[in-house]
Amino acid sequence: MRLFITGGTGFVGAHVVRAALERGWEVRCLVRTGSSRAALEGLEVECVEVDLADPRAVLRGLHGCEAIAHVAGTFEHGPQALQRMHEVHVEATAALLRGAEEAGIPRFVLCSSSITVGWGTQHEPADEDSPLPDPDRAFGRDTPLRAYFETKSQAENLVFQACSHGLKGVVVNPDYVIGAWDSKPTSGAILVHMGRHWMPFHPRGGKCFITASDCGRGHVLALESGVSGRRYLLGTHNLLYREFMQRAARLMGVRPPLLPLPRAAGRLVGAAGALLRRLDPHRFALLDGQVVEATQSIRFRDGSRAKRELGLLPSPIEEGIEEAVGWFRDHGYLPGRRVPPP
Ligand SMILES: NC(=O)c1ccc[n+]([C@@H]2O[C@H](COP(=O)([O-])OP(=O)(O)OC[C@H]3O[C@@H](n4cnc5c(N)ncnc54)[C@H](OP(=O)(O)O)[C@@H]3O)[C@@H](O)[C@H]2O)c1
Repeated sequence: MRLFITGGTGFVGAHVVRAALERGWEVRCLVRTGSSRAALEGLEVECVEVDLADPRAVLRGLHGCEAIAHVAGTFEHGPQALQRMHEVHVEATAALLRGAEEAGIPRFVLCSSSITVGWGTQHEPADEDSPLPDPDRAFGRDTPLRAYFETKSQAENLVFQACSHGLKGVVVNPDYVIGAWDSKPTSGAILVHMGRHWMPFHPRGGKCFITASDCGRGHVLALESGVSGRRYLLGTHNLLYREFMQRAARLMGVRPPLLPLPRAAGRLVGAAGALLRRLDPHRFALLDGQVVEATQSIRFRDGSRAKRELGLLPSPIEEGIEEAVGWFRDHGYLPGRRVPPP
């Protein structure tokens, strides 16, 4: 059985590729011309250069595959941000679904995000069916976060429409993913900051964390045994940022944060981020007022459907932190090198 995967050169995709290989799939990875293939080095995978905007190239790339995992995605700022998010989330999903239909490929998994799912509290965490808060209030009207939310929601709807025409399609909604191969870095940026400088403040809120290995496995299990037309949250540990950062500080041997982030921090960070992104848009992508505001509230979710229906058993979140920190050390993001096990 051969799996066609987009995004395999990135953080989450690197783990989906490894999980698929472990479960006996042959893997064909879409790579963009000029992209780094470091995350795929040493793996028995086939790489094909396919432009998702070219339907013939997509069809050629899909030839001989039995399943598709669309993991590629982006979160960006700037004048091109909405267009880029629309291209990779909406247009590419549509192109791959068309290709699946033409090539007769029966199974599809879309990597969306927990952003399209509501959130709750410790006592009442949200699940896949919980209503979303008002998007205007949650993400703003004309913000990158709103564009990310809208384009991910549209992509999910395309998959569900295709399911009503016979596709066996599922959507996975990863929450806060932590582990190795986060080369940009995305969610691991907080660990890199903590390892380089003392961070005295912790956000007031909380999130549902998952190790990157479990996230990768969740994609493949959903593809293999998910119920068609269903969403699966991939999040296993509801933790306050304070708790997460304390655990990370202990594992990294650095000082933990002591104080809650002031409530006005979102506005200040938003202004600083807007300036810094002129120097480096990707590096400072998460220095976004709206993103920081989001970390100031508790956004707990219940990922038990993936455990119940897919058999995704949660690993300790410490494993994800250790993997991430070890990888950041080995690749020069943090000082020191991982101590190899005896
Ligand atoms: N990181 C998280 O905590 C998190 C949480 C929830 C959901 N997700 C979702 O997980 C997916 C992967 O994100 P990530 O964190 O792994 O980010 P990442 O490390 O930046 O990887 C993004 C991947 O998508 C590919 N890509 C981006 N735009 C593309 C395009 N136009 N055409 C083809 N490929 C394209 C990239 O290819 P290149 O290598 O060529 O750049 C890379 O392989 C995304 O859909 C994201 O929304 C991530």
